[in-house]
Order: sequence, then structure tokens, then C-alpha cells
Amino acid sequence: MGKWRLWNISISILIFLTAYNIFLTIKLMYSATCADHPPEVLRQENGKVNEFIECNEKYPLQQEPAVKFNMTLYENVAEIYKNLEQNKKYHLNLNLGLGRSDDRLNYKLYDNIIIGDKFIQLSEKYETCLATQSSLDKIASLIESSLYWGGPISLATFASNELELNRLLLYIMYLRKCNTRIRDKVSFHLATIKGPTKFTINEERLESLTCGNPMGVLKDLIKDKSLKRGVYPWRLKTPYPQNLLRNLARKNCQSKYVFLTDVDIIPSKGMAESLNDFFERQFCEGKCAYVVPTYELDERVFFPPNKTDLIRMAKKGLARPFHHKVFIYNQYATNFSRWQTYKDPDQKIRVSHPVTNFEFLYEPFYIATDTVPPHDERFVGYGYTRNSQVYEMFVAGYEFYVLSPIFTCHWGLQVKRSRPPWREHQNNLNRKQFDQFKKEIFSKYSKDPLNMIKH
Ligand SMILES: *[C@@H]1O[C@H](CO)[C@@H](O)[C@H](O)[C@H]1NC(C)=O
Ligand SMILES: *[C@@H]1O[C@H](CO)[C@@H](O)[C@H](O)[C@H]1NC(C)=O
Ligand SMILES: *[C@@H]1O[C@H](CO)[C@@H](O)[C@H](O)[C@H]1NC(C)=O
Repeated sequence: MGKWRLWNISISILIFLTAYNIFLTIKLMYSATCADHPPEVLRQENGKVNEFIECNEKYPLQQEPAVKFNMTLYENVAEIYKNLEQNKKYHLNLNLGLGRSDDRLNYKLYDNIIIGDKFIQLSEKYETCLATQSSLDKIASLIESSLYWGGPISLATFASNELELNRLLLYIMYLRKCNTRIRDKVSFHLATIKGPTKFTINEERLESLTCGNPMGVLKDLIKDKSLKRGVYPWRLKTPYPQNLLRNLARKNCQSKYVFLTDVDIIPSKGMAESLNDFFERQFCEGKCAYVVPTYELDERVFFPPNKTDLIRMAKKGLARPFHHKVFIYNQYATNFSRWQTYKDPDQKIRVSHPVTNFEFLYEPFYIATDTVPPHDERFVGYGYTRNSQVYEMFVAGYEFYVLSPIFTCHWGLQVKRSRPPWREHQNNLNRKQFDQFKKEIFSKYSKDPLNMIKH
């Protein structure tokens, strides 16, 4: 069906362009001028307007070259129609000619390119929206997240070129085809580096992908060298715009509260439902952010069904605070020992304790209304992306409260490794950017609670 309609449209365009071409040629014949003899001069000489000025040997009749039929033009129009067809077929809302720009005109942003079938209803039902971002290579974590998280999910994705965009769209369509939870809950947004003008969803390939093996399918799709993020030197030129994507995901949440995570941070089971109950009871005067503790898990264990099980695993060394060995300041101020010893009277969410020893570089995952400061989009790639935003919250006077018994997990016990050079490079650039950022924060709030300016 789709092919026939496309064929009909193509024929119509072809007929239209041909007719237009003939029309232009005829028009040109009648508006021919004499060489080197502008009409104004002729008019002055003759003293009246005369369409049929005779050309002579001195001023021979000159025809402008007729507009040649341009196949490229036709092909571009056909591509646009093809994209419209695919939009319709896949419930996709993507017109690459209609992105909005970021503040620095480096990227194009597209909101809601796919809306989860139940995203709007879920946004009304749940107080909290899970906002997250991912490149193609990590997007499969959604399968697990959407299993445990009952509420709406707003996911910002990134594609730096046409190949990556095509593969990304293909995989998203595959996830939607095979997974009702993703199809219902997740709304997708897209950021691109200005570049791709068209996309193609490989329909035959999509149909051939089997639902049983999402990791294998993904592995196959990112086999091309250029799609392995971070591994190849050209990634230096197109670093992953984490903060831009975070803002894109945040702003497209429709619920009152936003839980911003990285895509591979998996929320514990039933969290969205318990948060509804919590926010019915909890009132915050002033500026509050609710921290959800994050653990990293040994790959060999099952995802802990509750806090009791998580602590049991932690005692066996199969789970530990996120980044505990890699960079302890990352989560240290959460005070995991205090959280672990807090006695939950039942499974309802409560504040276990407030964060009392806030320190620079603390970057918890927290729930708050979207009135918190935006993520500064000048930080691109790795380093200072989330902790700079949390730092601003602290200076702005936010209080952080740790919630129990909910938690999040990251798969894999992280060990310290030397950073690849591209990552070191990004970190250095962002460190310089942070020197500027902290001065701006100081002049914005006239406060320096961590003595950042003196140092
Ligand atoms: C046809 O159109 C394209 C894009 O508009 C242009 O780049 C190309 O030079 C044109 N070709 C000819 C032969 O005029
Ligand atoms: C936690 O999960 C385990 C395993 O499913 C279960 O036996 C236990 O009763 C649960 N504990 C609580 C407090 O719900
Ligand atoms: C954690 O809480 C305990 C008990 O309140 C306290 O003694 C300890 O100093 C806290 N540690 C951090 C890092 O805040």
C-alpha cells in the first residue's frame, strides 16, 4: 500500500515539475531581452513602454538559458514525501527541517518524535516522571527500567549523523514493536548535530528483527566503527551533549515531579507508585530535593526486590554505593551507612535523613519539581555535567533529603581504570568551563558556601 501511494505521489510530482518546466520555458521566450540593453534605457530612448522592442544587429535577441530539469530537486522532494509516509506508518513525528536550536546554535532539538501510547494518561496518574537520556549504544537499559518503573518516561536521544539516526530510529521502532511497556510509557525526543536532512527506516530489516534477542540486535546495529561512542577519535569532534539532553528530557515531562537519571540507573520496583503516596503526605516549604540512593551491583546477582535484599547483598560484597571505588565523593554525602541502618516501619517511602555534609562534586540522583536550575549546556562530554548543576542547587539554598526504602542500581561493580585520552581531554575542557561557571554562580547568588572562589 505504502509503496503504491509513494509511487502515485512521485508520478504527480514528476508531471507537475515537467509542466512547470514547460511553463517557465514559454515564459522565458516572451520575456527575452536584447543583449546589453536594459529595458529602462530602451524606454528612455523611445519615450514609452513597449514590450515588442525590436532587437537589431547591435542588440541581438538574447534568450536566458531555460531552466533544466533537475533530478536532484525531484529526488529531494521524493525523500521528503518518503519521510512523511514513514512518519505516518510508525507514529513518528519527525520533520528534520523543523528542529529548534539550542542557545549556541550547535544542535537541533525535536520534541516528542514518538509519544508513548499511554504517556499522557500516565502523566496524569503519576506524580513523578522518569527523565533520562541515552545514545544508541546504551538505550537497551530501557527494557529493565520500564519493567520496574510504572510511570511515564521521557527519554532524550542523540544522533550525530544520518547513519546513527537511521539506526537509532530502527532500534526504537524495534523496541516499540516488541515491548508493550516501552511502547506505552516512553516518549522519545531527539537532538542532532545540525547535519542529517533525511532519515530512512529500513522496513525490511525491522521486520526481520526477532523480539527474543534485543541485546544481540543492538550489538549488530552498532557494529560500524563510527557508532561506537567514545572508542574512536572522531568522537572528540562530536562529544555527547549530556546536559543538553538532560534539559530536553526534563522539559518534556508532564508530571509535577521529575526524577532525572542516566539511562543505566535502574529504579527499584514499584517506586513510581510509592512516590504517589509519598507526595500525598509530604509537603515541602522552600526548596527540596529528594535523593534516591544509588548502588552498583555485581553482574551475577538478581536485581534486589527490596531494600532488605539490597543490604544483604551489600554485606556480601555483591553491591556497594555507586562509584565507591572509582570516585567516592560522587555519592558520599548521601551517607549510605545511615540509610542502611534506618529502620523502615513499613514499605512506605519516608525521609531517612537530610544530607548534612554536602561537599563539592556530590552528584546524587534526586527527585524535584522542574523548578531546579537547568543543566548548563556548555558542559559537553564528560566531567562537571551533573555535579555543577547540583552545586548550583546547593548555593541556591536547596535542601537534600534521602528517601527510604527506595533505591536505584547500576549494573557492574566499577573499578578504577585509567581514563581513555578523549575522556581526559573532555574533562580538562570542562574543568576550565567550570572555573567560569563558579564565578557566574557567585555573582548570581552572592554566596560562596563552599569557599570555591577563594580557592
Ligand atoms: C540541482 O539542484 C541541486 C540542489 O538544489 C544543486 O545542488 C545542483 O547543482 C543542481 N544541478 C544542476 C545540474 O543544476
Ligand atoms: C524482600 O524480598 C524478599 C525476597 O523476595 C522477601 O522474602 C522479603 O519478605 C521482602 N522483604 C520485605 C520487607 O518486603
Ligand atoms: C553519617 O551519619 C552518621 C550518623 O548520623 C554520622 O556519624 C556520620 O558522620 C555521617 N557521615 C557522613 C559522611 O555524613
